[in-house]
Amino acid sequence: MKIIESIREMQDIAKKAKREQIRIGFVPTMGFLHEGHLSLVRVARKENAQVAASIFINPTQFGPHEDFNAYPRDLERDITLLEREQVDIVFIPKIDQIYSENHRTFVFVEKIAENLCGYFRPGHFQGVVTIVCKLFHIIQPDTAYFGQKDYQQLMVIKKMVADLNMDIEIKGLPIVREKDGLAMSSRNTYLTEEQREQALCLYRLINQAKKMREEGVDRAPEIITALKKNIEMETMVRPEYIRICHPETLKNLQVIKDRALLAMAIHVGKTRLIDNCLL
Ligand code: PAJ
Repeated sequence: MKIIESIREMQDIAKKAKREQIRIGFVPTMGFLHEGHLSLVRVARKENAQVAASIFINPTQFGPHEDFNAYPRDLERDITLLEREQVDIVFIPKIDQIYSENHRTFVFVEKIAENLCGYFRPGHFQGVVTIVCKLFHIIQPDTAYFGQKDYQQLMVIKKMVADLNMDIEIKGLPIVREKDGLAMSSRNTYLTEEQREQALCLYRLINQAKKMREEGVDRAPEIITALKKNIEMETMVRPEYIRICHPETLKNLQVIKDRALLAMAIHVGKTRLIDNCLL
């Protein structure tokens, strides 16, 4: 496995692969890898002759009071895990190479990036879209793999690729959960045992919403009210948002006709967690 820090070197490899018509599959990450990340890597491995992953904790997608400095890091372990999955290239750039002092260009997706997490984390998706756009230019993948865990991120990236005519296929893959239902996340490491227990409410709410849908409830506000009532019992949990929206436009829904997205964000102590499911 090649470990590459230099943008130039990475672009040379990408160019060579293009010339030789070798398909590149790409998995962007911020590291501290878990089975969620590895599930993406495994599909990429199956589908491409060359697999590249990136590890870069992207400062521009963190708000000024968010956890950029505290974000968990374990590069050595990440490299071992990626090697085990037979990844060909890990791209690990330094911050000052990616963002020079006079970096002035940002990519912004309208509407779809403005509600849910976009509303509560102003500037977040601009940071995400900009770094993913830059990584796409550096790695030049044929296909890039994202988790549905970050459903809005996946939709925003799809929109960017479509609107900017990028010749890259974006694949969204299912959420990987712990045995008890907690969605895997690098941020779960922040949780105390007690907080982790309470964080499980996200999964309970998903099941409650699914059950209500099965019972024929189709009014979104009715489901949301029931979920909010349930979450009040968790003393350590502060809900940020619980929304039912259209799975493509991410606009709030009143009545569920066909498919709908249940999207949630909560704070448990200082940790912000998200989860979602299609209803
Ligand atoms: P990160 O949180 O490291 O996640 C990298 C990829 O792994 C994302 O596509 C995310 O959706 C996916 N992922 C995380 N947890 C998952 C789970 N439990 N099941 C399935 N997939 C999961 O998302 C980012 O990094 C960054 O925003 C990035 C796209 C790298 C841009 O900086």
